[in-house]
Amino acid sequence: MAKATATADDEIFALRLERSAPDIWPMLDALYGRHPAFDAFRANLLKTLKKAWDARPVDLKRLDLKRDLEPDWFQRPDMAGYVFYIDRFAGNLRGVLDKLDYLTDLGITYIHFMPCLKPRPGDSDGGYSVMDYRQINPAYGTMAEFEQVTAALRARGMSACIDLVLNHTAKEHAWAKKAAKGDARYQDYYLMFDTPEMPDRYSETLVEVFPDNAPGNFTHYPDLGKWIWTTFNEHQWDLNWANPQVFLEIVEIMLHLANRGVDVLRLDAVAFMWKRLGTRCQSEPEVHMLLQALRACSRIAAPAVIHLEEAIVAPSEMLPYLGRGQHDGKEGNLAYHNSLMVQFWGALATRDTRLMGHVLSTHFPETLRNATYATYIRCHDDIGWAVTDEDAAAVGMSGPAHRGFLSEFYEGGFPGSFATGALFQVNEATGDKRISGSFASLAGLEQAQKLGDVAGVEMAVQRMLLGHALIASFGGIPLIYMGDELALPNDYSYLNTPEHVHDSRWIHRPRMDWQAVAQRHDGTSPSAQVFWGTRHILARRRAVAALHAGNGTRVVFPDAGGVFAFQRLAPTGVVLCLFNFTEHWQHISEDWARAQGVSLMHDALSDHPVETHHGAVALPPYARVWMV
Ligand code: GLC
Ligand code: GLC
Repeated sequence: MAKATATADDEIFALRLERSAPDIWPMLDALYGRHPAFDAFRANLLKTLKKAWDARPVDLKRLDLKRDLEPDWFQRPDMAGYVFYIDRFAGNLRGVLDKLDYLTDLGITYIHFMPCLKPRPGDSDGGYSVMDYRQINPAYGTMAEFEQVTAALRARGMSACIDLVLNHTAKEHAWAKKAAKGDARYQDYYLMFDTPEMPDRYSETLVEVFPDNAPGNFTHYPDLGKWIWTTFNEHQWDLNWANPQVFLEIVEIMLHLANRGVDVLRLDAVAFMWKRLGTRCQSEPEVHMLLQALRACSRIAAPAVIHLEEAIVAPSEMLPYLGRGQHDGKEGNLAYHNSLMVQFWGALATRDTRLMGHVLSTHFPETLRNATYATYIRCHDDIGWAVTDEDAAAVGMSGPAHRGFLSEFYEGGFPGSFATGALFQVNEATGDKRISGSFASLAGLEQAQKLGDVAGVEMAVQRMLLGHALIASFGGIPLIYMGDELALPNDYSYLNTPEHVHDSRWIHRPRMDWQAVAQRHDGTSPSAQVFWGTRHILARRRAVAALHAGNGTRVVFPDAGGVFAFQRLAPTGVVLCLFNFTEHWQHISEDWARAQGVSLMHDALSDHPVETHHGAVALPPYARVWMV
């Protein structure tokens, strides 16, 4: 491609700046306007944006234009994500290049590389304790190799997502080291206190994220004479976002990564970015101002890039991360649909979809503007039972009893449970017990195989395909967590790994089983069944244009307690998606289905006619049907 002339490039930048001006400056005025160095900050930010734009490689500028012309690129049904740790999946970055054919064959068009920037040595919270944002973890390779990988993805029409941890840095980060040496400029990058008085006052209303192994939200360093804000682990120092210099530094890093070929920035733990005395210091209004301003910075200097915001919070608190009210259409392009994930597991255990239907119909709008969900069944983190007492009560359940039941069920202790899981961070104060475990093991495969229970194995396979069909059709980008397409079970080796033994989340972060991949062609093993079923689901998703994430999702209520249903509201007609969450046959009246807008009794997922008996649609155990 010919090099664009400087004038045209400058003009594009100026136009983009103009377009985003109303999104960025009012936010920064409100956040930092009273700061003594505000004018210098504004000037420096403009310089930073222009510098990043000038340094942006020509092929990425071309992608910027392409995505300006196709702003719905991430909402299309050919988008399907896959999430892995580089070492556990392929050894290193060079290994990843050899595995791309496998992912393309599975139907993957988006890869989330789990934390891959240089972490602190030793325990790094799975890489979320970053000491250098401009270097790749040396165990995985170099930045040059990373750029080769993103270029290879781009050539295949695939996108790359990486984590940007912006709530905290490792205490080994250069800024933290300077702060520890007493440099006042860098001490202001963090939240440091000379006495325990303020930390104590904040603590009155804070919740603990890791109560077992990192209790409290502050760490006292006697040698530094400081109390430092550490929401997560002791080695993760929270950044002071009230300091505009922190904003500037992160924008520089963000655009530096964008210019290496990153398409999706997963902004980690964003809820915690702003602190206010007397609150939980989560999802404060300033968080959304910061996120809107960061989003505008990407739109100005690297518009091909979108933001995925990680906020694992209750439904009403989560939606603003996709932009609501004054931030409508201007904040995250993607946010994790934590409620869909939690409700999937809840309905699977109870064989009752009423709470699921209630939560998903009352708290979530049918459509989102310029944004969509990241839908998932499992990720690298624990599952917290984010169900409010009010929502439980609305369907006649007790919140505490339901949450307690789910923990027991998925740990495996509840009589009749099919699951094999592990507890994560039991909080005695709140009674909260989170759960770790792989999709396959939580869905019953591990236990059934141990017992030689053939029917149980079959049910577990069907539960997994139910889950993958759900996240592929609900609306959003489905994210398949590495190994879930092969039904990989829990990995207990973390118990023998000193830096992981305290953290049961490693039970569901296995190494890739390439032998299972090789064996998928012969055989009817559960692993092969889940692989071919998942591949089929993604292929059918691509074929059904109506599943575009821009089309609305409306939860509807069939007259069968174990069936979850929603309509996808495409201009070309409705797709009625049905999911049987029980191991029994369920029957839905044909009249009801027609009243939902379905005319042909055809299942777009199996691409076969839907089975009907005496005016009823017959759904086998764990059936999933996309009726058109
Ligand atoms: C996010 C990550 C989690 C990590 C935490 C702290 O929630 O998903 O794995 O422990 O942030 O960085
Ligand atoms: C269809 C396919 C089957 C696949 C399933 C996925 O029924 O025929 O092979 O497992 O869809 O849900």
